[in-house]
Amino acid sequence: MRIDVVGCGAATQMFHIPSLVRLLDTGSIRVRACLDVDPAAAAAVGEVLHAERSGVPDDDLADVDGVIVATPPESHAAIARRYIAAGKAVLLEKPFATSSNEAHELVGLAAARRVPVLVGHFRRFYPSAIEARRFIAAGALGRILRVDAAEGGRWEWPSKSDYVVRSPSGGVIFDTGSHLADLVLYVLGCDAPYGKVVIEIDELVKTPTSEPSHQCDARITVADGDRRIPIRFRISRLEPLPGVIKIVGERGTLLLPTSYARAPQLWVGGESFTLTNPVADKMPVDAMSCFVKEHLEWLEACEHPDSDSPLSAHRFLVLQDLLGRLAA
Ligand SMILES: NC(=O)c1ccc[n+]([C@@H]2O[C@H](COP(=O)([O-])OP(=O)(O)OC[C@H]3O[C@@H](n4cnc5c(N)ncnc54)[C@H](O)[C@@H]3O)[C@@H](O)[C@H]2O)c1
Repeated sequence: MRIDVVGCGAATQMFHIPSLVRLLDTGSIRVRACLDVDPAAAAAVGEVLHAERSGVPDDDLADVDGVIVATPPESHAAIARRYIAAGKAVLLEKPFATSSNEAHELVGLAAARRVPVLVGHFRRFYPSAIEARRFIAAGALGRILRVDAAEGGRWEWPSKSDYVVRSPSGGVIFDTGSHLADLVLYVLGCDAPYGKVVIEIDELVKTPTSEPSHQCDARITVADGDRRIPIRFRISRLEPLPGVIKIVGERGTLLLPTSYARAPQLWVGGESFTLTNPVADKMPVDAMSCFVKEHLEWLEACEHPDSDSPLSAHRFLVLQDLLGRLAA
């Protein structure tokens, strides 16, 4: 598979490169072009990935099978549209769009062209998340009474560009919030299908009040069939927050960290239990392995364009709806 990498900043350098180097070594991919509005960034990444060429994005999409898009969110849709229209597979960094309309448009285009479009929510491969989802889906936690999810710390991510303080889609809601909210929706099984899950925003406090915001405390209700689940989200770039998702059910409380973990913790009557998945030894062993799995999942989807993946873009329409409404 010959791929392009568009956007050669921090996410590409810290996450995509280590995984892509392995795929280059195994001969699974070749890199046709590394592209960035900053040609020096493109050249630096191009050299590491042995790209055939590097430079600023152009209209030449000949001899390429797919693209990894790791630019700031506001440019995702325009780049994805070009590749999808040309029938090329796309792996988009999170959040994959800046509005619900944009997200629906890309999903529609992908379906019409029958090309796989996946989104890089690699946390879905945390063994703790997979097991928590399975446990809840089996009804083992009983009716879900409420969820409290928090993640925050002073901003330390070495972004190359200033979109996190400049762009309306660069705030904490689209950034950390997309990871946290996705993990919650995924674990609850409320990530899809769009239309079945309805979200109400009950209370929203943001600092500053306009985007990009850097702190957000939101109370929402997720209605999914006969389930109505009150959820509190706290996300911050200004202060440390616990980094945990607490799911309170009739039969116990499930805790999972927002970072990589092998298993969630179940609390029942003051006792704690570690819920280990029976196939946990076949699952990614750390966060980087989850990232590698994201790339493998994309390559697999490219081979089988009609297959459905946990990372298929349509599985993030509920998330995009929520993010858009929190950021409105
Ligand atoms: N999966 C994760 O855990 C994770 C972690 C960090 C960032 N991200 C996501 O990755 C994306 C990029 O974040 P980052 O931290 O690498 O940002 P960054 O600013 O470090 O890098 C973005 C790069 O894109 C380039 N760029 C900007 N507009 C462009 C355009 N129209 N065409 C081509 N290149 C363009 C910039 O010059 C820069 O080099 C964001 O969507 C972010 O949310 C994901």
